[in-house]
Amino acid sequence: MYLRRSLGYLLTSTFFLANLAHANNSTSAYVACQAVTVNPLDGCPSNTVLVSQTDCSANFSTIQSAVLSIPNNTIPYTILVLPGNYIEQINVTRSGPLTILGQTNSPNDQSENSVTVYWTSADANSDLPGDAFSSVLTVAPNLNASLTGSGPTGFAVPADTPFGCTDFRVYNIDFRNVYSEISAGPALAVSVSRANAGFYYSGIYSYQDTVYVGKLGNAYFYHNEIAGQTDFFYGFGTAWIESTSVLLRGCGGGITAWKGTNTTFVNKYGVYISDSTLNAANSSIAPSMVGKCFLGRPWNALMRAVYLNMYMDASIAPAGFKKWTTDPATDNYGPNTTMAEYKSYGPGFNLTTRIAGNLTIEFTADQARAYRTPKDVFMASDGSQSYYSWIDAAYYPW
Ligand SMILES: *[C@@H]1O[C@H](CO)[C@@H](O)[C@H](O)[C@H]1NC(C)=O
Ligand SMILES: *[C@@H]1O[C@H](CO)[C@@H](O)[C@H](O)[C@H]1NC(C)=O
Ligand SMILES: *[C@@H]1O[C@H](CO)[C@@H](O)[C@H](O)[C@H]1NC(C)=O
Ligand SMILES: *[C@@H]1O[C@H](CO)[C@@H](O)[C@H](O)[C@H]1NC(C)=O
Ligand SMILES: *[C@@H]1O[C@H](CO)[C@@H](O)[C@H](O)[C@H]1NC(C)=O
Ligand SMILES: *[C@@H]1O[C@H](CO)[C@@H](O)[C@H](O)[C@H]1NC(C)=O
Ligand SMILES: *[C@@H]1O[C@H](CO)[C@@H](O)[C@H](O)[C@H]1NC(C)=O
Ligand SMILES: *[C@@H]1O[C@H](CO)[C@@H](O)[C@H](O)[C@H]1NC(C)=O
Ligand SMILES: *[C@@H]1O[C@H](CO)[C@@H](O)[C@H](O)[C@H]1NC(C)=O
Ligand SMILES: *[C@@H]1O[C@H](CO)[C@@H](O)[C@H](O)[C@H]1NC(C)=O
Ligand SMILES: *[C@@H]1O[C@H](CO)[C@@H](O)[C@H](O)[C@H]1NC(C)=O
Repeated sequence: MYLRRSLGYLLTSTFFLANLAHANNSTSAYVACQAVTVNPLDGCPSNTVLVSQTDCSANFSTIQSAVLSIPNNTIPYTILVLPGNYIEQINVTRSGPLTILGQTNSPNDQSENSVTVYWTSADANSDLPGDAFSSVLTVAPNLNASLTGSGPTGFAVPADTPFGCTDFRVYNIDFRNVYSEISAGPALAVSVSRANAGFYYSGIYSYQDTVYVGKLGNAYFYHNEIAGQTDFFYGFGTAWIESTSVLLRGCGGGITAWKGTNTTFVNKYGVYISDSTLNAANSSIAPSMVGKCFLGRPWNALMRAVYLNMYMDASIAPAGFKKWTTDPATDNYGPNTTMAEYKSYGPGFNLTTRIAGNLTIEFTADQARAYRTPKDVFMASDGSQSYYSWIDAAYYPW
């Protein structure tokens, strides 16, 4: 670990942002707990709660009932989920650390995940009280803090609203909102507000507004598969997506849609997608998508979306980013809109057409340096220093 870190430092300082220091085969501390054993809790930390639909030794058959059994204190808890399809919504409000593990012998292979959580809900015709109600998983201190609201500052909560989970982690679980097979209104799969959350080797699927990172939300995604069609990374908070396969299930809005507010200035709020790939979800739909998927559009004029070292397939629009609408009155585009990329490659990247589009900022090495790693964007509440101890160090490849 020490060697890798020092090597990583040397390499990144020499070949800035080169994809060299990746910890290919690092494993988290939870591998023994996740492994399939006769007694499923062998190898698990103390305070691990077992969930299974078939194993009689488990006290809970749904993940949410296990979540609700855990006290709201600062003691770390773990939930081990045995294989199955779980049809439920999960809401995590506790402030202390919580880790949810899917059982697997292949923790470094998302495609082998044995646990899927399904929910079927969309705010299709504003028939829900808010988009957040559709989510499969929500991490927030309370319902109001998870709500999107509208306008520059979104849904208002009192300033003294407590922070939610300080260290929420999920390993090897897939979340699927299966409301429809096409964009039909906000259908969230995961939602993080006023909380810190890490997703490792997990799958996150819907068509619209799939990943929501709301106000004062910090979220890190490592080696996930994330699939959507319209504005499927959206929010006000700070999200870092690393070494992830982003699958385009169609082209709508943009891949990203972000907002800045006066409550998010502490972090370098925004969405950062790094060392990952953008590909059409499958070869049947790929031909119809060539040149049609935009990297993002500004939810408000303080949008910040940055792509770093990305492979982009031919689905990506030649101009890169777009405005919210074509009407100057509602295009949400201004001098503080940051829609940028650095070292993109693949058939979806063409410097000539990016420049002609006049919206996508091609970062210089100096500009990109401000967003080199999660350490550069996740800040302590007073903004004085980096705050990323909630990220699993085994899956922090810098
Ligand atoms: C990860 O794998 C790549 C190629 O497989 C290799 O070049 C690189 O050195 C490896 N990194 C580490 C930290 O082992
Ligand atoms: C990681 O790969 C190295 C080099 O191939 C190997 O020596 C080491 O045992 C591997 N570690 C794990 C945890 O698989
Ligand atoms: C189920 O709950 C009982 C009572 O709290 C506890 O003693 C037991 O260890 C639990 N079983 C499992 C598998 O977690
Ligand atoms: C959890 O405890 C914290 C600290 O006491 C408190 O601020 C928060 O409101 C509690 N959350 C819930 C959901 O009870
Ligand atoms: C989870 O929160 C949503 C609102 O976001 C609510 O509609 C749902 O009933 C909650 N589910 C549980 C199991 O608490
Ligand atoms: C949630 O917000 C609504 C609307 O502002 C308010 O009436 C309600 O009291 C809030 N709920 C809580 C638990 O703070
Ligand atoms: C390809 O992806 C689209 C969009 O998700 C889906 O509707 C279709 O069923 C997929 N086709 C195949 C052959 O997987
Ligand atoms: C943010 O702006 C809103 C609307 O202008 C205002 O009500 C609120 O007090 C501001 N919050 C902070 C923390 O400045
Ligand atoms: C843009 O940011 C600058 C400071 O960087 C600030 O002075 C200006 O008011 C902002 N403009 C808008 C439209 O928010
Ligand atoms: C980039 O786009 C320009 C303008 O459409 C085109 O002439 C050029 O061939 C493209 N370059 C590549 C490498 O595709
Ligand atoms: C590019 O956009 C800026 C406004 O953001 C405008 O001032 C400038 O004229 C545009 N350049 C071209 C070549 O369209």
